[in-house]
Amino acid sequence: MDPNSFPISSLVAPFFLLFALIRVPTTLCVDDPRYSNCSTMIRCGSIANIGYPFWGMNRASYCGQPGFELKCEDGVGKITMSQNTLRIFDVNPEQQILKVAREDFWDGYCPRELINTTINFNYFDYGPGLRNLTLFYGCFLPSTSVFIFLTNCTINGATMDVSYATRSVLVDPRPEVCHGSVIVPIYETAAQNLEVNPLTVNDALKGGFELQWNVKDDQCRNCRESDGVCGYNQTTNSFVCFCRDHLSETTCSPTQGTLARPLIFLSAFCRTFW
Ligand SMILES: *[C@@H]1O[C@H](CO)[C@@H](O)[C@H](O)[C@H]1NC(C)=O
Ligand SMILES: *[C@@H]1O[C@H](CO)[C@@H](O)[C@H](O)[C@H]1NC(C)=O
Ligand SMILES: *[C@@H]1O[C@H](CO)[C@@H](O)[C@H](O)[C@H]1NC(C)=O
Ligand SMILES: *[C@@H]1O[C@H](CO)[C@@H](O)[C@H](O)[C@H]1NC(C)=O
Ligand SMILES: *[C@@H]1O[C@H](CO)[C@@H](O)[C@H](O)[C@H]1NC(C)=O
Repeated sequence: MDPNSFPISSLVAPFFLLFALIRVPTTLCVDDPRYSNCSTMIRCGSIANIGYPFWGMNRASYCGQPGFELKCEDGVGKITMSQNTLRIFDVNPEQQILKVAREDFWDGYCPRELINTTINFNYFDYGPGLRNLTLFYGCFLPSTSVFIFLTNCTINGATMDVSYATRSVLVDPRPEVCHGSVIVPIYETAAQNLEVNPLTVNDALKGGFELQWNVKDDQCRNCRESDGVCGYNQTTNSFVCFCRDHLSETTCSPTQGTLARPLIFLSAFCRTFW
């Protein structure tokens, strides 16, 4: 026997074995990029930890449902519904409540354009405890207990009188002369304040209103409980559960049969070491 070959091979072999042991699982442990992407939460100013069904910013479109795109502008989370941009104050995932205020009424009751509040009823409903504030622009309304005067607004270069009603008005008063009216939901408590003190109108508008989203949560809960991350296929309009290394329509529970045991072992191994 060649005296030189023995020590070298006996030294190298264990390294190969070690290398193989480490190398193989590392490649298998690389997470599905969609799993990683949707594992990140949205954070913007005062809102944080926002996940499914929301997406946008650091979360790709496959991480959420179509009506739930969030934007972050100057540290303020925003969502757009129809022509309204809504500022988000708070998101409560357990109760599925979004607390918002209209961006165009943030600086007062003289918006640049008169646009009604329109929410996406496919995904949202108004929360409880709200009342509709109606603002009338250029209607020459008599100041009564129903219509309360505010100071004039200048909208698109036109100066016009403004009044409001906190109770629903069945018909637009004198629509033939009115420049327009806008309905904005406010909290019931804000409406009551407003009936006593008209100067609180801007506070009422800034106070915003609540929306409840009506996405079924059980699919996502099942997926999360199986260590998956919730996602959505916006092409087929169906829920998807992203698992570390594959995609499932329901949960990430390992498949039954002979493959199950090594998969459970591998996934436990990956979770422990990577
Ligand atoms: C997720 O995907 C979005 C859109 O493709 C991208 O902008 C973002 O950087 C990704 N985030 C992570 C953490 O991969
Ligand atoms: C807002 O809705 C009310 C009630 O439907 C309507 O009378 C009014 O004209 C609408 N205003 C605008 C600007 O579309
Ligand atoms: C306010 O008006 C909208 C229609 O513009 C309606 O869908 C909503 O239910 C009303 N809210 C209340 C509290 O009456
Ligand atoms: C407010 O606007 C009305 C027109 O809608 C006008 O007749 C009135 O003079 C204005 N008042 C002031 C103080 O500008
Ligand atoms: C969505 O479904 C289409 C068609 O089945 C498929 O090609 C695409 O890869 C799916 N995307 C995701 C993110 O599941």
